[in-house]
Amino acid sequence: MQVNSIKFFVDTADVAAIRELNDLGMVDGVTTNPSLILKSGRNILEVTREICDIVSGPVSAEVVATDAKEMIAEGMKLAKIAKNIAIKVPLTWAGLTACKAFASEGHMVNVTLCFSAAQAILAAKAGATFISPFIGRLDDNNFDGTDLIEDIRIVYDNYDTRTQILAASIRSVNHIVDCAKIGADVVTAPPAVIKAMANHILTDKGLEVFLADWAKTGQKIL
Ligand code: G3P
Repeated sequence: MQVNSIKFFVDTADVAAIRELNDLGMVDGVTTNPSLILKSGRNILEVTREICDIVSGPVSAEVVATDAKEMIAEGMKLAKIAKNIAIKVPLTWAGLTACKAFASEGHMVNVTLCFSAAQAILAAKAGATFISPFIGRLDDNNFDGTDLIEDIRIVYDNYDTRTQILAASIRSVNHIVDCAKIGADVVTAPPAVIKAMANHILTDKGLEVFLADWAKTGQKIL
């Protein structure tokens, strides 16, 4: 079933958490980074392959080299893991050079560590499939993360730019709602934040009252 909504990528290398959300149809893709690989305690090639077996959408796997030539070699190795790999490169000149090379070969590329609209314009020109602006880390440093999403939306829409805005470093349910209001194409969020979207104090209170009243009826449905 085709659902028209903001896309959800899960920002984790925790296979069990990905599987749980994927079974609910909540996963349009996955993003990983070196810190998330460390947290998983797994080998990058093995865990990424396992994730690609579960999820059919783009799975971002990040290079760790800092010069373009080595980044390209690492990215080509990561791309061999599965057809749905999006090679993740940092927003540096070397990363943009590698992005251009990967895009020319038909690979999906996620340009990460984006903190300005100027950087997002460069990523689009280098052929990025996704640009990853980090909202939470901007907020942590007293910038407004959602303002950046808004700015990138404006400049991309001015030129029908095909690069998708993948809002990253999501820390709260409100971040996700703000991104959806602005029109980010994708949010990547930790599983706990996606699950927290279901929570509302009035839902809990309402259910408590309904169940108490139901008990008083003495009825059963089954
Ligand atoms: O995928 C990268 C990004 O989402 C990192 O988030 O919370 O470490 O800033 P965070």
